[in-house]
Amino acid sequence: MDSNNSVLHMPVLMEEVTQFAQPQSGEIWVDGTAGGGGHTADILQVVQPHGHVIAIDRDPAACLKLQKRFDQQAVIVVNDSYHHLPLHLDRIAESIGVAKPLLVDGILLDLGLSSDQLADRERGFSFQSDGPLDLRYNPNEGESAAELLRYIREEDLANIIYQFGEERFSRRIARRIVEQRKIEPIETAKQLADLIHRSVPGRIHGRVDSATRTFQALRIAVNRELEIVEKALRELPACLKPGGRFLVISFHSLEDRLVKHIFREHEALEVLTKKPIEASDDEERRNPRSRSAKLRVSKRK
Ligand SMILES: C[S@@+](CC[C@H](N)C(=O)[O-])C[C@H]1O[C@@H](n2cnc3c(N)ncnc32)[C@H](O)[C@@H]1O
Repeated sequence: MDSNNSVLHMPVLMEEVTQFAQPQSGEIWVDGTAGGGGHTADILQVVQPHGHVIAIDRDPAACLKLQKRFDQQAVIVVNDSYHHLPLHLDRIAESIGVAKPLLVDGILLDLGLSSDQLADRERGFSFQSDGPLDLRYNPNEGESAAELLRYIREEDLANIIYQFGEERFSRRIARRIVEQRKIEPIETAKQLADLIHRSVPGRIHGRVDSATRTFQALRIAVNRELEIVEKALRELPACLKPGGRFLVISFHSLEDRLVKHIFREHEALEVLTKKPIEASDDEERRNPRSRSAKLRVSKRK
């Protein structure tokens, strides 16, 4: 999103989400990763005027834009991590005048980062930019990737790059980072990307730049992404009404594997998608980001 409140992000799998979510008029839904508000708007259209969408995002800048976009009582914007949903439900029940404990009709998580965050030069998500290497969804929480790279042990860094980036040159990249930081701190996204390009053979593999996996790994680490997804998958079903839907869109195999296994083994959930739902050829052409999207859906028993 830019300062004019316009949104760059093109939401993925909109039709498929509606088909599985089947929101109804008057229901209360949670969009746990509201971002630019594309999915929120779609659900809102059906549940209003008496229903509500609880639109959560960890990014304070996204939340400000959501407040402006949805200047109406039916949308409750919450700036927090979606795994903290249970902490907000009593307050929300009071504010909208419904009985406690509040159980919701559905929860949607569309994981990862938005195109607006990628385009924001101050965040460091895009390694083509000379912006600071931050990589946090909430820049006021925890430590940035640049801070982490100042002190992390080489072996721990290699493990992060290997586990969260599935990068086979993890040891080599970690060694180069540790050698480089003795000369000067790694402060910008471009500095790190250049260093990775010099460390590994071949800059582009298929459609993917060789820096992509290391950036993904550091982003997952500074935001504790997998830990949070896992906690949410285990704990948020308790916030759903019986029959309530839980939809998760993931963009890489580490997350999709977690969703698949936890949905399957969770005693309160029934899986509605044996195989993940993927974008149509048409959507993939229109929105290349959708190529890696996988939607899995379950229902509270
Ligand atoms: C792929 S975008 C969602 C786009 C959104 N569905 C739309 O239609 O515009 C992912 C969003 O999730 C947010 N996010 C990432 N981790 C989060 C977390 N743990 N809790 C809440 N929001 C999170 C990011 O800040 C980003 O805005």
